Amino acid sequence: MQRKLLLEHIDVEGIQSFDVYRSKGGYSSVEKALKAMSPDDVLEEVKKSGLRGRGGAGFPTGMKWGFLARPEGVPRYLVCNADESEPGTFKDRYLMEHIPHLLIEGMITSSYALGANTSYIYVRGEFFYVIRILEKAIAEAYQNGWLGKNIQGSGFDHDIYVHPGAGAYICGEETALLESLEGKRGNPRIKPPFPAVKGLYGCPTVVNNVETIAAVVPIVNNGGEAYAEIGVGRSTGTKLISASGHINKPGVYEIELGLPVEEFIYSDAFCGGVLNGKELKAVVAGGSSVPILPANLILKTEAGEPRLMSYESLADGGFATGSMLGSGGFIVMDESASIVHNLYTFTRFYHHESCGQCSPCREGTSWMEKILHKILAGHGTMEDIDLLWDVQSKIEGNTICPLGDAAAWPVASAIRHFRHEFEAYIKHPVKQTEINYYNYCHNLETAVS
Ligand SMILES: Cc1cc2nc3c(=O)[nH]c(=O)nc-3n(C[C@H](O)[C@H](O)[C@H](O)COP(=O)(O)O)c2cc1C
Repeated sequence: MQRKLLLEHIDVEGIQSFDVYRSKGGYSSVEKALKAMSPDDVLEEVKKSGLRGRGGAGFPTGMKWGFLARPEGVPRYLVCNADESEPGTFKDRYLMEHIPHLLIEGMITSSYALGANTSYIYVRGEFFYVIRILEKAIAEAYQNGWLGKNIQGSGFDHDIYVHPGAGAYICGEETALLESLEGKRGNPRIKPPFPAVKGLYGCPTVVNNVETIAAVVPIVNNGGEAYAEIGVGRSTGTKLISASGHINKPGVYEIELGLPVEEFIYSDAFCGGVLNGKELKAVVAGGSSVPILPANLILKTEAGEPRLMSYESLADGGFATGSMLGSGGFIVMDESASIVHNLYTFTRFYHHESCGQCSPCREGTSWMEKILHKILAGHGTMEDIDLLWDVQSKIEGNTICPLGDAAAWPVASAIRHFRHEFEAYIKHPVKQTEINYYNYCHNLETAVS
């Protein structure tokens, strides 16, 4: 039986409202923290929990909080990254839409630990209805004395502001997000200085993902050690997975980290198997930015061990035979899917979303899109595959922010594991895969909606 820490009450009728959320024990982490714990106590529990950032990079949250500079007389900020634009990832939207008070509660408890009297939720612009849901929840929290001055008589003041983005993927990168929040064009900043020292308005800032902040609630309620008991190795706790593509039951699942990938794909409790009983071909396990793995390598590591849904197991073998957990956007492709078409879609996305600051990313994403288009249009040569490899290798590691890496890794992994498919398009240029491509997109759309 898999434990649920975030989505336990998701199906309770009316859980979006303050009263129902409170009746299910909501805001008890704030109560506990303000009445019985010092900010450092809360930080200690988060460190003990082993929680790692759920936005993609998996950086230990307690360590990040510990880096926050605390100069006298300077405000500190918590910024919640709710920009969620990574293709294949839709778990933050789900959480905010269905149980918004969990995020608000996590924001208050986390801000208390960080000594932040003001926090911001930067929400992807297209999520306009989610913005309304959050604003309603925040208004209810103010009405009931969980936000504002002297929360529940504790002496702690806190205000939360919701800030809509304008539909740019790059604004999910934390320093681009801060620029955007300051009213500027969302270009990533050169680091150092890191936001923990010089973040929003030049002040110390922690930027955390929606799910990371929500996870602080059960950590404070049950203790960091109880959280760390769930999971495997350094992958502690539960994780929300957005499952889409060629599966019978697309949706958002909360899993205990360490669940075997095979069980996640085939069990009725999760994806319910590959659509129409077809063969599994490949999986993008952590959102569009992570390397794609063929069926044999997603189910088992190169050493023949079962692959687990964990940071370590999914990365086992490095990029030669492994991938990443990333943001948990789990995209399944059956035998009918076209890897090259799928890659073209991703590459077009990265080209469109590159902010243009760094030449390798600005030019490289454009060239990768052009080469892939040429191959798909039936004009490719075998040299184009090597050229594509060469271009991606010159982007990786050569940009201010990891959008360049995110664009390069899918290309490298597709060539590494599916070179024969690129060759097939070149040798048989008349081959039509539009139907498969249509099916693939259709399934993704169905999953997301
Ligand atoms: C291009 C790009 C887009 C990103 N988009 C998001 C996003 O939508 N949400 C998110 O939480 N992190 C995103 N990140 C990661 C953030 O920069 C940052 O690592 C994260 O918000 C930190 O929170 P965490 O430690 O709780 O994971 C993105 C990174 C890059 C390079």
